Amino acid sequence: MSDNRKHQEAPVLPVRRDVRFGLPADQIGSWHYTAGPVFTAFLNTFSIVLPVGERFFMDNVRAYRDQITDPELKKAVTAFIGQEAMHSREHIEYNNALFAVSSIAPKFEKFVGKILTSINKYAPRPIGLAGTIALEHFTALLADSVLSEPRISEGAEPHYAALWRWHSLEETEHKAVAYDVWETVIGTGPGAYALRAVGLAAATVIFWGLVIPVFLEVLREEGKLTDVDGWKKFYKFTMGDIGLIRIQLRNYIDYFRPDFHPWDHDNRKYLEQIDEFLAYQQSLAA
Ligand SMILES: [Fe+2]
Ligand SMILES: [Fe+2]
Repeated sequence: MSDNRKHQEAPVLPVRRDVRFGLPADQIGSWHYTAGPVFTAFLNTFSIVLPVGERFFMDNVRAYRDQITDPELKKAVTAFIGQEAMHSREHIEYNNALFAVSSIAPKFEKFVGKILTSINKYAPRPIGLAGTIALEHFTALLADSVLSEPRISEGAEPHYAALWRWHSLEETEHKAVAYDVWETVIGTGPGAYALRAVGLAAATVIFWGLVIPVFLEVLREEGKLTDVDGWKKFYKFTMGDIGLIRIQLRNYIDYFRPDFHPWDHDNRKYLEQIDEFLAYQQSLAA
Protein backbone atom coordinates (compact mmCIF):
# COMPACT_ATOMS: atom_id res chain seq x y z
CA MET A 1 0.00 0.00 0.00
CA SER A 2 1.43 3.36 -0.93
CA ASP A 3 1.94 6.06 1.65
CA ASN A 4 -0.99 8.16 0.46
CA ARG A 5 -3.40 5.40 1.45
CA LYS A 6 -1.91 4.81 4.90
CA HIS A 7 -5.10 6.11 6.50
CA GLN A 8 -7.08 3.10 5.38
CA GLU A 9 -6.67 -0.31 6.99
CA ALA A 10 -8.59 -1.82 4.11
CA PRO A 11 -8.98 0.53 1.14
CA VAL A 12 -12.51 1.08 -0.10
CA LEU A 13 -12.65 0.41 -3.83
CA PRO A 14 -15.61 2.13 -5.51
CA VAL A 15 -17.70 0.25 -8.05
CA ARG A 16 -19.46 1.80 -11.06
CA ARG A 17 -23.15 0.85 -10.98
CA ASP A 18 -25.53 1.54 -13.83
CA VAL A 19 -28.70 2.42 -11.92
CA ARG A 20 -31.73 4.28 -13.26
CA PHE A 21 -34.46 5.89 -11.20
CA GLY A 22 -37.26 6.96 -13.53
CA LEU A 23 -38.19 9.97 -11.42
CA PRO A 24 -41.81 11.17 -11.61
CA ALA A 25 -41.20 14.58 -13.23
CA ASP A 26 -44.56 16.01 -12.14
CA GLN A 27 -43.45 15.88 -8.50
CA ILE A 28 -40.23 17.86 -8.92
CA GLY A 29 -41.39 20.76 -6.75
CA SER A 30 -43.06 18.72 -4.04
CA TRP A 31 -41.27 15.35 -3.84
CA HIS A 32 -40.25 15.71 -0.20
CA TYR A 33 -43.73 15.49 1.31
CA THR A 34 -42.54 15.63 4.94
CA ALA A 35 -39.85 18.30 4.67
CA GLY A 36 -42.00 20.56 2.51
CA PRO A 37 -41.41 22.68 -0.60
CA VAL A 38 -38.61 24.90 0.75
CA PHE A 39 -36.33 21.99 1.64
CA THR A 40 -37.30 20.31 -1.65
CA ALA A 41 -36.25 23.45 -3.55
CA PHE A 42 -32.99 23.50 -1.59
CA LEU A 43 -32.06 19.96 -2.71
CA ASN A 44 -33.31 20.75 -6.23
CA THR A 45 -30.99 23.77 -6.39
CA PHE A 46 -28.11 21.56 -5.31
CA SER A 47 -29.01 19.11 -8.08
CA ILE A 48 -28.78 21.87 -10.73
CA VAL A 49 -25.00 22.16 -10.25
CA LEU A 50 -24.26 18.44 -9.94
CA PRO A 51 -23.87 17.43 -13.62
CA VAL A 52 -21.54 20.37 -14.41
CA GLY A 53 -19.75 19.90 -11.08
CA GLU A 54 -19.27 16.20 -11.64
CA ARG A 55 -17.93 16.90 -15.14
CA PHE A 56 -15.40 19.25 -13.49
CA PHE A 57 -14.37 16.57 -10.95
CA MET A 58 -13.98 13.91 -13.67
CA ASP A 59 -11.86 16.24 -15.84
CA ASN A 60 -9.57 17.17 -12.98
CA VAL A 61 -9.00 13.64 -11.73
CA ARG A 62 -8.59 12.36 -15.29
CA ALA A 63 -5.93 15.03 -15.96
CA TYR A 64 -3.68 13.38 -13.38
CA ARG A 65 -4.45 9.76 -14.15
CA ASP A 66 -1.15 9.22 -16.00
CA GLN A 67 0.81 10.27 -12.93
CA ILE A 68 -0.76 7.60 -10.73
CA THR A 69 1.35 4.47 -10.40
CA ASP A 70 -0.36 2.71 -7.46
CA PRO A 71 -2.55 0.08 -9.22
CA GLU A 72 -5.26 0.24 -6.53
CA LEU A 73 -5.56 4.01 -6.85
CA LYS A 74 -5.57 3.72 -10.64
CA LYS A 75 -8.54 1.34 -10.40
CA ALA A 76 -10.24 3.66 -7.91
CA VAL A 77 -9.81 6.62 -10.29
CA THR A 78 -11.48 4.68 -13.12
CA ALA A 79 -14.37 3.72 -10.83
CA PHE A 80 -14.63 7.30 -9.53
CA ILE A 81 -15.02 8.61 -13.08
CA GLY A 82 -17.56 5.86 -13.83
CA GLN A 83 -19.63 6.65 -10.73
CA GLU A 84 -19.66 10.40 -11.35
CA ALA A 85 -20.72 9.80 -14.96
CA MET A 86 -23.70 7.73 -13.76
CA HIS A 87 -24.64 10.36 -11.15
CA SER A 88 -24.44 13.01 -13.79
CA ARG A 89 -26.74 11.06 -16.12
CA GLU A 90 -29.41 10.62 -13.43
CA HIS A 91 -29.18 14.25 -12.28
CA ILE A 92 -29.56 15.42 -15.88
CA GLU A 93 -32.91 13.61 -15.91
CA TYR A 94 -33.74 15.13 -12.52
CA ASN A 95 -32.77 18.60 -13.77
CA ASN A 96 -34.79 18.24 -16.96
CA ALA A 97 -37.90 17.95 -14.77
CA LEU A 98 -36.82 21.12 -12.99
CA PHE A 99 -35.90 22.98 -16.20
CA ALA A 100 -39.45 22.38 -17.48
CA VAL A 101 -40.89 24.49 -14.64
CA SER A 102 -38.07 26.91 -13.77
CA SER A 103 -36.44 29.49 -16.00
CA ILE A 104 -33.58 30.27 -13.57
CA ALA A 105 -32.48 26.61 -13.28
CA PRO A 106 -31.06 26.10 -16.82
CA LYS A 107 -29.48 29.58 -16.79
CA PHE A 108 -27.79 28.76 -13.50
CA GLU A 109 -26.47 25.45 -14.80
CA LYS A 110 -25.01 27.22 -17.85
CA PHE A 111 -23.45 29.95 -15.71
CA VAL A 112 -21.76 27.54 -13.28
CA GLY A 113 -20.69 25.34 -16.21
CA LYS A 114 -18.94 28.35 -17.78
CA ILE A 115 -17.12 29.19 -14.53
CA LEU A 116 -15.89 25.61 -14.10
CA THR A 117 -14.84 25.32 -17.76
CA SER A 118 -12.89 28.60 -17.44
CA ILE A 119 -11.11 27.35 -14.31
CA ASN A 120 -10.02 24.22 -16.16
CA LYS A 121 -8.99 26.21 -19.21
CA TYR A 122 -7.11 29.11 -17.66
CA ALA A 123 -6.14 28.28 -14.05
CA PRO A 124 -3.13 26.11 -13.17
CA ARG A 125 -4.22 22.46 -12.89
CA PRO A 126 -3.69 22.18 -9.10
CA ILE A 127 -6.38 24.87 -8.62
CA GLY A 128 -8.94 22.67 -10.35
CA LEU A 129 -7.91 19.66 -8.27
CA ALA A 130 -8.03 21.74 -5.06
CA GLY A 131 -11.58 22.77 -6.02
CA THR A 132 -12.45 19.16 -6.76
CA ILE A 133 -11.33 17.83 -3.37
CA ALA A 134 -13.04 20.73 -1.60
CA LEU A 135 -16.36 20.08 -3.36
CA GLU A 136 -15.96 16.33 -2.90
CA HIS A 137 -15.65 17.10 0.82
CA PHE A 138 -18.98 18.96 0.55
CA THR A 139 -20.68 16.04 -1.18
CA ALA A 140 -19.20 13.57 1.32
CA LEU A 141 -20.66 15.63 4.18
CA LEU A 142 -24.09 15.83 2.58
CA ALA A 143 -23.90 12.08 1.92
CA ASP A 144 -22.96 11.35 5.53
CA SER A 145 -26.00 13.31 6.72
CA VAL A 146 -28.34 11.42 4.39
CA LEU A 147 -26.91 8.07 5.52
CA SER A 148 -26.62 8.80 9.24
CA GLU A 149 -29.94 10.60 9.76
CA PRO A 150 -32.82 8.55 8.31
CA ARG A 151 -35.33 11.33 9.09
CA ILE A 152 -33.79 13.37 6.24
CA SER A 153 -35.35 10.98 3.72
CA GLU A 154 -38.44 9.80 5.60
CA GLY A 155 -41.74 10.56 3.94
CA ALA A 156 -40.22 11.55 0.60
CA GLU A 157 -41.37 10.28 -2.80
CA PRO A 158 -39.51 6.91 -3.03
CA HIS A 159 -37.77 7.42 -6.41
CA TYR A 160 -36.31 10.80 -5.45
CA ALA A 161 -35.34 9.48 -2.00
CA ALA A 162 -33.68 6.45 -3.64
CA LEU A 163 -31.70 8.64 -6.03
CA TRP A 164 -30.30 10.74 -3.17
CA ARG A 165 -29.57 7.59 -1.15
CA TRP A 166 -27.70 5.94 -4.04
CA HIS A 167 -25.75 9.12 -4.68
CA SER A 168 -24.91 9.35 -0.97
CA LEU A 169 -23.70 5.74 -0.82
CA GLU A 170 -21.44 6.18 -3.83
CA GLU A 171 -20.15 9.60 -2.74
CA THR A 172 -19.16 7.92 0.53
CA GLU A 173 -17.61 4.99 -1.31
CA HIS A 174 -15.39 7.27 -3.42
CA LYS A 175 -14.90 10.14 -0.97
CA ALA A 176 -11.12 9.66 -0.71
CA VAL A 177 -10.30 9.00 -4.37
CA ALA A 178 -9.72 12.58 -5.55
CA TYR A 179 -8.05 13.28 -2.21
CA ASP A 180 -5.63 10.37 -2.65
CA VAL A 181 -4.85 11.66 -6.15
CA TRP A 182 -4.16 15.06 -4.57
CA GLU A 183 -1.76 13.59 -1.97
CA THR A 184 -0.02 11.59 -4.68
CA VAL A 185 0.51 14.35 -7.23
CA ILE A 186 0.51 17.55 -5.13
CA GLY A 187 1.72 16.10 -1.84
CA THR A 188 1.18 16.70 1.86
CA GLY A 189 3.69 19.51 2.50
CA PRO A 190 2.91 23.08 3.64
CA GLY A 191 2.31 24.35 0.09
CA ALA A 192 -0.16 21.54 -0.63
CA TYR A 193 -1.88 22.15 2.70
CA ALA A 194 -2.17 25.91 2.08
CA LEU A 195 -3.67 25.38 -1.36
CA ARG A 196 -6.25 22.83 -0.22
CA ALA A 197 -7.23 24.89 2.85
CA VAL A 198 -7.65 28.05 0.77
CA GLY A 199 -9.47 25.86 -1.77
CA LEU A 200 -12.12 24.83 0.75
CA ALA A 201 -12.53 28.36 2.09
CA ALA A 202 -12.92 29.75 -1.45
CA ALA A 203 -15.20 26.88 -2.55
CA THR A 204 -17.43 27.48 0.49
CA VAL A 205 -17.84 31.20 -0.21
CA ILE A 206 -18.33 30.72 -3.97
CA PHE A 207 -20.68 27.73 -3.57
CA TRP A 208 -23.06 29.40 -1.11
CA GLY A 209 -22.71 32.76 -2.85
CA LEU A 210 -24.01 31.16 -6.03
CA VAL A 211 -26.49 28.66 -4.60
CA ILE A 212 -28.39 30.80 -2.08
CA PRO A 213 -29.67 33.47 -4.54
CA VAL A 214 -30.73 30.78 -7.03
CA PHE A 215 -32.43 28.76 -4.29
CA LEU A 216 -34.45 31.88 -3.41
CA GLU A 217 -35.27 32.51 -7.06
CA VAL A 218 -36.44 28.88 -7.55
CA LEU A 219 -38.73 29.39 -4.54
CA ARG A 220 -39.97 32.72 -5.88
CA GLU A 221 -40.81 31.09 -9.22
CA GLU A 222 -42.80 28.44 -7.35
CA GLY A 223 -44.57 31.10 -5.26
CA LYS A 224 -43.18 29.52 -2.07
CA LEU A 225 -40.89 32.30 -0.91
CA THR A 226 -43.23 33.33 1.90
CA ASP A 227 -44.33 29.84 2.92
CA VAL A 228 -43.72 30.23 6.67
CA ASP A 229 -44.47 26.60 7.46
CA GLY A 230 -42.10 25.52 4.66
CA TRP A 231 -39.31 27.70 6.12
CA LYS A 232 -39.88 26.27 9.62
CA LYS A 233 -39.49 22.76 8.25
CA PHE A 234 -36.47 23.86 6.21
CA TYR A 235 -34.82 25.11 9.42
CA LYS A 236 -35.62 21.86 11.22
CA PHE A 237 -34.17 19.79 8.35
CA THR A 238 -30.99 21.84 7.84
CA MET A 239 -29.96 23.54 11.09
CA GLY A 240 -32.50 22.39 13.70
CA ASP A 241 -33.38 19.03 15.22
CA ILE A 242 -32.73 16.96 12.07
CA GLY A 243 -29.92 19.23 10.91
CA LEU A 244 -28.52 18.07 7.55
CA ILE A 245 -25.98 20.94 7.73
CA ARG A 246 -25.71 21.32 11.51
CA ILE A 247 -24.54 17.75 12.12
CA GLN A 248 -21.66 18.21 9.65
CA LEU A 249 -20.13 21.43 10.97
CA ARG A 250 -17.36 19.63 12.89
CA ASN A 251 -16.62 17.32 9.97
CA TYR A 252 -16.46 20.37 7.70
CA ILE A 253 -13.87 22.11 9.89
CA ASP A 254 -11.85 18.90 10.25
CA TYR A 255 -10.63 19.43 6.66
CA PHE A 256 -8.43 22.28 7.91
CA ARG A 257 -6.29 19.92 10.02
CA PRO A 258 -2.93 19.58 8.24
CA ASP A 259 -3.04 15.76 8.49
CA PHE A 260 -6.72 15.41 7.52
CA HIS A 261 -7.80 12.45 5.40
CA PRO A 262 -11.44 11.73 4.36
CA TRP A 263 -11.37 8.27 5.98
CA ASP A 264 -10.39 9.72 9.38
CA HIS A 265 -14.15 10.03 9.67
CA ASP A 266 -14.73 6.34 9.14
CA ASN A 267 -18.34 5.91 8.06
CA ARG A 268 -17.74 2.91 5.81
CA LYS A 269 -20.32 0.93 7.84
CA TYR A 270 -23.03 2.53 5.67
CA LEU A 271 -21.56 0.86 2.61
CA GLU A 272 -22.78 -2.47 3.96
CA GLN A 273 -26.26 -1.28 2.96
CA ILE A 274 -25.44 -1.13 -0.75
CA ASP A 275 -26.61 -4.64 -1.71
CA GLU A 276 -29.83 -4.27 0.24
CA PHE A 277 -30.35 -0.85 -1.32
CA LEU A 278 -29.83 -2.18 -4.86
CA ALA A 279 -32.39 -4.96 -4.25
CA TYR A 280 -34.86 -2.34 -2.99
CA GLN A 281 -34.12 -0.09 -5.97
CA GLN A 282 -34.81 -3.00 -8.36
CA SER A 283 -38.19 -3.55 -6.72
CA LEU A 284 -38.92 0.16 -7.11
CA ALA A 285 -38.06 0.05 -10.82
CA ALA A 286 -40.19 -3.08 -11.43
FE1 LIG B 1 -21.57 12.27 -7.63
FE1 LIG C 1 -18.15 12.60 -5.92
